[in-house]
Amino acid sequence: MSQYKIAVVVGSLRRDSFNRQLANAVIKLGPPEFSFQEVQISDLPLYNQDDDAQQAPSVIRLKSEIAASQGVIFVTPEYNRSIPGVLKNALDHASRPYGQSAWAGKPAGVLGASVGTGGTGLAQQHLRNILAYLDMPALGQPEVFIQVKEGLFGASGEIANADKKAFLQGWMDRYVAWVKRHGK
Ligand SMILES: Cc1cc2nc3c(=O)[nH]c(=O)nc-3n(C[C@H](O)[C@H](O)[C@H](O)COP(=O)(O)O)c2cc1C
Repeated sequence: MSQYKIAVVVGSLRRDSFNRQLANAVIKLGPPEFSFQEVQISDLPLYNQDDDAQQAPSVIRLKSEIAASQGVIFVTPEYNRSIPGVLKNALDHASRPYGQSAWAGKPAGVLGASVGTGGTGLAQQHLRNILAYLDMPALGQPEVFIQVKEGLFGASGEIANADKKAFLQGWMDRYVAWVKRHGK
């Protein structure tokens, strides 16, 4: 059985999302003692503070999945130079009610893929700001800004480019060490 369970949050609901493809390729680079599970955020209602005392079943599910994990990997697109609303919605939901955040203390990893040359750098910076407030230690280096180009993914979803694959393997190795250092 895996010693370390990592929740994966993808900031895109798009069926053929490049970020989900990136997430699926990267989690294959993890060691055997780590398991990775994407958490669903597509069925969360829009956050409304009135509902804090009676959170929707989908919110309770998300919070329990995060609580049961030893770390969280965020893989997100950039929308209009920030994170997509669906990701902010999920972050807000699982941070409430006040004092009962599911995120606190979970070691975070941040990656992103974009069709733009910036490779989600600005979105990631906004996300890191939020993670700092949520008390999530976030791995700082290496930063992963992927620009999606033809041939990035191979036929079975793997990272086709050997240099990019080695870079992402290095990222995973650092993240694994980060979780072991900061996880509870
Ligand atoms: C509403 C919207 C805003 C976008 N804004 C940006 C942006 O600020 N920077 C960028 O590099 N790409 C931007 N894009 C393009 C995304 O990089 C592209 O749609 C990408 O495929 C989204 O990731 P996904 O494939 O995981 O859904 C935007 C796309 C949408 C739909």
